[in-house]
Amino acid sequence: MGKGRALVVDALGVAVVGFGWMGRVHTQAYARVPHHFPRLGVRPELVAVAEEVPGRAEEAAARYGFASTYRDWRDIAADARVGAVSITAPNFLHREIGVAMAEAGKHIWIEKPVGLTAADARAVADAVARARVQGTVGFNYRNAPAVEAARELIASGEIGAVTHVRIRLLSDYAAHPDGALTWRYERERGGSGVLGDLASHGVDLARFLLGDITSLVADTAVFIPRRARPTGATAGHALAAGGEPGPVENEDYVNCLLRFASGARGVLEACRVSVGEQNDYGFEVHGTRGAVSWDFRRMNELAVSRGTAYQDQPVSTVYVGPGAGEFAAFQPGAANAMGYDDLKVIEAYRFLRSIAEGRPYGTTLADAVHSATVLDAMTRSARTGAWTALEPAS
Ligand SMILES: NC(=O)c1ccc[n+]([C@@H]2O[C@H](COP(=O)([O-])OP(=O)(O)OC[C@H]3O[C@@H](n4cnc5c(N)ncnc54)[C@H](O)[C@@H]3O)[C@@H](O)[C@H]2O)c1
Repeated sequence: MGKGRALVVDALGVAVVGFGWMGRVHTQAYARVPHHFPRLGVRPELVAVAEEVPGRAEEAAARYGFASTYRDWRDIAADARVGAVSITAPNFLHREIGVAMAEAGKHIWIEKPVGLTAADARAVADAVARARVQGTVGFNYRNAPAVEAARELIASGEIGAVTHVRIRLLSDYAAHPDGALTWRYERERGGSGVLGDLASHGVDLARFLLGDITSLVADTAVFIPRRARPTGATAGHALAAGGEPGPVENEDYVNCLLRFASGARGVLEACRVSVGEQNDYGFEVHGTRGAVSWDFRRMNELAVSRGTAYQDQPVSTVYVGPGAGEFAAFQPGAANAMGYDDLKVIEAYRFLRSIAEGRPYGTTLADAVHSATVLDAMTRSARTGAWTALEPAS
């Protein structure tokens, strides 16, 4: 968006399918895009929301101003007022809804991991390509201005050739033994466990920063094998003390060694039951001359070591500012904090800009296919215990 560009603003009807945590965050992001990106040539209008839990869509409409509410998402596919759809329903619905929306000519902003398997992600990617609509995926961490700055720093060669990286995504959102046995813990509706939930983000970050992964070996574990079935409708990570117990069908934990096409090595660890860890997401990238690391909880900072000392080389804190990524759309100067929801505003902006310009901008379904392919390889490797090669990226 050039600074002097005239403000020609077209209204675009948007809809949201599934109004849990992500449904709310996407909705608020659409509302905020014009505040932060006034020169974008598209103004999203909240046309419809679909939710299967009775009353939830109506509540969303009352609070955020959707013009219509539906129980069945197919009504959104058939609604001619809708030009773009956020797919924020559970993973098992991504493929069916994603393909149907694309075939109905709707642009889609779809949450990760895009289905249960790489085949699901590929089916949605193919439908988007066939329909010539735009598709954006919810890999929000790469939208953090500090992460974009880290990528530039690595690409500039300032830390030398990358030798190794550690990527971690440790959380306690499923650590409570009374945590409800929601769709997330079922193979049929959640697919994988922490692989799809958190490691998918880590794999995307790995590729965003360092390029393609060529092979890996992974180990997984279930640490809380039984949970209580929900006693009512759930959203997010509800507790269900006293509910009928049932089996957890997917992994709580993954640890994985990675080899990159560049020759770099990596470790990725993700866990959803880490007591004492709240959103401990981040990376440490080491090169032959320096290093850069990032922690989501201090989202606007990088720890950078650069110079020619090799040993005892100082590490400095860099507060990213208006020069990094989309920081300037949110804050006027470095060290003014941005937060998680801002990453979704950036994602919404990039989605809408893709639609306005008729070409991809930001994440695409191809990124989801790449991430899901790596996750499938981790699943195979955890089963066989063997190093597993990945096909070269297309
Ligand atoms: N990018 C991120 O950081 C991030 C964070 C959390 C979740 N996610 C992803 O977002 C998606 C949703 O996760 P969430 O945490 O919002 O889950 P959630 O359980 O809070 O919300 C899902 C909502 O979908 C509704 N739903 C279920 N079946 C439906 C149907 N047939 N039609 C309409 N609505 C239906 C549920 O009733 C619920 O309100 C998942 O795919 C998840 O992987 C992404």
